[in-house]
Amino acid sequence: MKLLVAVLTALSVACASPHVAPRPTPLPMDLHSHAQPERVRVTHVALDLTIDMDAKAITGTAALSLVRSDRAAPLVLDATGIAIETVKGKDGSARRFALGPVEKDIGSALTIELAPADELVVIAYRTTERSDALQWLAPEQTADKRQPFLFTQGQSIFTRTWIPLQDSPGVRITYEARVKAPKGLTVVMSAEQLGRDADGAFRFRMPHAIPSYLIALACGDLAFRPISKRCGLWAEPSVVDGARAEFEDSESMVQAAEKLFGPYRWGRYDLIVLPPSFPFGGMENPCLTFATPTALTGDKSGVSLVAHELAHSWSGNLVTNATWRDFWLNEGFTVYFEQRIMEAVYGAERARMEWRLAVDDLKREMSEQEPWLHVLHIDLADKHPDDGFSGVPYTKGAAFLKRVESLFGRERFDRVLTKWFDAHAFQSVTTETFLAFLERELLTQDPKLAAALDVKRWIEGTDLPDELSVLPTSSLERVDREIGRWKTSKDAAALDTQSLVTQQWLHLLEGIAETLDARSMAELDARFALTKTKNCEIADVWLRLSIQHRYAAADARLEQFLTDIGRRKFLEPLYKELKKTPEGLARARTIYTHARSRYHALTRDTIDELLGWPFTKSG
Ligand code: BES
Ligand code: ZN
Repeated sequence: MKLLVAVLTALSVACASPHVAPRPTPLPMDLHSHAQPERVRVTHVALDLTIDMDAKAITGTAALSLVRSDRAAPLVLDATGIAIETVKGKDGSARRFALGPVEKDIGSALTIELAPADELVVIAYRTTERSDALQWLAPEQTADKRQPFLFTQGQSIFTRTWIPLQDSPGVRITYEARVKAPKGLTVVMSAEQLGRDADGAFRFRMPHAIPSYLIALACGDLAFRPISKRCGLWAEPSVVDGARAEFEDSESMVQAAEKLFGPYRWGRYDLIVLPPSFPFGGMENPCLTFATPTALTGDKSGVSLVAHELAHSWSGNLVTNATWRDFWLNEGFTVYFEQRIMEAVYGAERARMEWRLAVDDLKREMSEQEPWLHVLHIDLADKHPDDGFSGVPYTKGAAFLKRVESLFGRERFDRVLTKWFDAHAFQSVTTETFLAFLERELLTQDPKLAAALDVKRWIEGTDLPDELSVLPTSSLERVDREIGRWKTSKDAAALDTQSLVTQQWLHLLEGIAETLDARSMAELDARFALTKTKNCEIADVWLRLSIQHRYAAADARLEQFLTDIGRRKFLEPLYKELKKTPEGLARARTIYTHARSRYHALTRDTIDELLGWPFTKSG
């Protein structure tokens, strides 16, 4: 359908009279949006919203400012799971509109007939229970258990489920918002905070043009603690001080990042630690990174999450993937940049250790995946953008950039990257644009090195080139010695685990995984209290091993973990492991039946498919 529209548009351009004004350079085709921004483009969104925690709905208006290249064309928006009440022009008169059917993967088109002079339309709407971006939490799902909580998750194509707009990362918009919340609750957004109105509504303004997936909101019983002049931490009152201490290095990270690739251009850099059902580790919402509380380990072992989401302030938020095919431009660059920040703030050994673990994870993952997922410039035709989600755009993407760095030298590559961010600031870019830039700025200057790099193989190939650099790391070599010791003695008491950090524990557990059985697990547990650990990264691996080796003493903890935590990265491997046996599958389904309503729609989608929800009696 989308293709047909594009072909017809192209034909009508070709046949048009010579008086037609030249069109702006066409955007790359985004398979995952109904929008036709080359005809009518949304440039600004003004929201006036009210949050109703009891009805679990957001109601209000979105006023969209338009640039019209084709005055005859309607405005086509993405709007899925939203009830549209009215659409009006600036003067308040009604506009005709039609909400199309829900199409697989991309949802509905909202088509609005514009009057000749329209440069603004105002849409009155309310969200529904199919507004998948929104997660409404009951008080008992929060840390303090006193107030309800709401947060949004826009990436990849969920903003269209709570705001009707052109939901394509190639269409950049500025936004402002006025949000009313129930008494006692605070609203924060991915924008500059402008304080409160006389009637208590919270006001926000995002003056930079951003892709729609970065519009975000959270509402709950929130407290704030400053970290520096421009950095601070939001969280529930019982969490905020611990979280602030864990993430106190944020300001140093911003400074390190600025030294590498140019100024931080977003004003404030705040973090919000959300309740544990948040489906991701972190989300790079501008001015306000959203983070999982499972990263709070007490020893800063999870702070690369901050480095990562902060890095997106350049790679992703400033220079954005134009379509979801180009997702590796967001995540691969960000992992590369995250590594550089970690190295600058915590030292080379820490960065190397984390890189080594990421590469090990990627290899494990790739050995189990279908090859189409291994391609950086991924083909997402007939797929949801999230179907292409894996470690590949992250770790293989970063490995490619590391390879460029090692061939051409850090200094030269840093200059190229800084120029890349400056030259494309506040723009959306494709893989082709980046490759042309790389060619021009670096490769043509050194054809020998360019040949050694073999760009095509990295970008279009399905393998992981073995020039992938993994440097030795003493902190993991130490663990390798313990793994060796374990393999010969199987004696938990002989393991030297003194002052191991989270990453080393993960490496140890993965390293001995194959040798375990229920009895040795009991011995390890007796010595290291792993079933009881509060560290979610370690718990996640330990619980997976418990399923694998039928270590029943961890059953209750597993059920608790699957109920309380909604981070997809943790849940997916656990349900996958359970699914491997008929008894496990039955257990998974029993737990999921209770836990499902506590997960975000994004996590639900993944686990629904994995376990075959809805469960029939015979299934
Ligand atoms: N932007 C991503 C999260 C995301 C990706 C949400 C695709 C929806 C669709 C974020 O920056 C991210 O990569 N988060 C990681 C954290 C990490 C690598 C430290 C996560 O959540 O696991
Ligand atoms: Zn990321």
